[in-house]
Amino acid sequence: MHLEVFASADEAAARVVEMLVNRLTTKPTTVLGLPTGATPLPVYKLLIQAIDRRQCTLGQATIFNLDEYFGVGPDDPRSYAHYMRAALFDHVNHRSDRINIPNGLAEDPRAESSRYEAAISAAGGIDLMLLGLGRNGHIGFNEPGSPAMSRTRLVALTDNTLSANARYFRPDAPAPRSAITMGIATILSARQIVLLVTGQSKAEALRQTLEDPVSMQMPSSALQLHNDVVVVADSGAASKLSVADGSRKGTAGSRERAQPEAMGVRSL
Ligand code: F6R
Repeated sequence: MHLEVFASADEAAARVVEMLVNRLTTKPTTVLGLPTGATPLPVYKLLIQAIDRRQCTLGQATIFNLDEYFGVGPDDPRSYAHYMRAALFDHVNHRSDRINIPNGLAEDPRAESSRYEAAISAAGGIDLMLLGLGRNGHIGFNEPGSPAMSRTRLVALTDNTLSANARYFRPDAPAPRSAITMGIATILSARQIVLLVTGQSKAEALRQTLEDPVSMQMPSSALQLHNDVVVVADSGAASKLSVADGSRKGTAGSRERAQPEAMGVRSL
């Protein structure tokens, strides 16, 4: 794993966008895995700006979203399909037939999950999987206790996740209590994984992700098993890491970058 720490969440997001732009420039048909939530919003904002400046395009890219709430349709403002349109897709040129999000209204969630896995395989697998991190260590909606070999499936959300996400819902349209999510094994099948973690509230989860032994009670610790993970954090999220002391440790430093400037860079 490779860790880069930035002074602010915006700089961390800029670094992720730099990686996305490089990827899309090198391979315009890149297959991306994308998350929702608060963490990637500055990424999507900056990516839209980069696309407007013609630094890259999503016109030939294929996208697989990590997860979708179960029981809500794509036009429901609670759905991740709705979130993705508002945050990204409505603002950029893309091929709608190459945008994939699990169907939250599927009558047979098991069949829908198999279909989603088959679609990922048919696209050639995910080149770059961008992830956020739940405070309880979930990635996608793989809650603590998720099997390491799990694939896309219907899962129940924990009370911890429901309360962390309650801020996104109104009382008259409560949060769905289950979701279809890529599994841990689906995520680990991606060729590269970029974990973006920002904010002090994620500091303990990030510490356990990187520094504790792999345990499915901390699903994100499974990322230690992948051979190409870049962790991009702001100083708040990195504040409990013994490996990030704010100095430039530069083991990965041959890559030249104009900006943003990392406070600390480290191979774990
Ligand atoms: C969302 C997802 C989740 C979030 C996580 C962090 O598609 O897969 O794992 O990445 O819940 O959410 P935020 O960024 O809102 O703190």
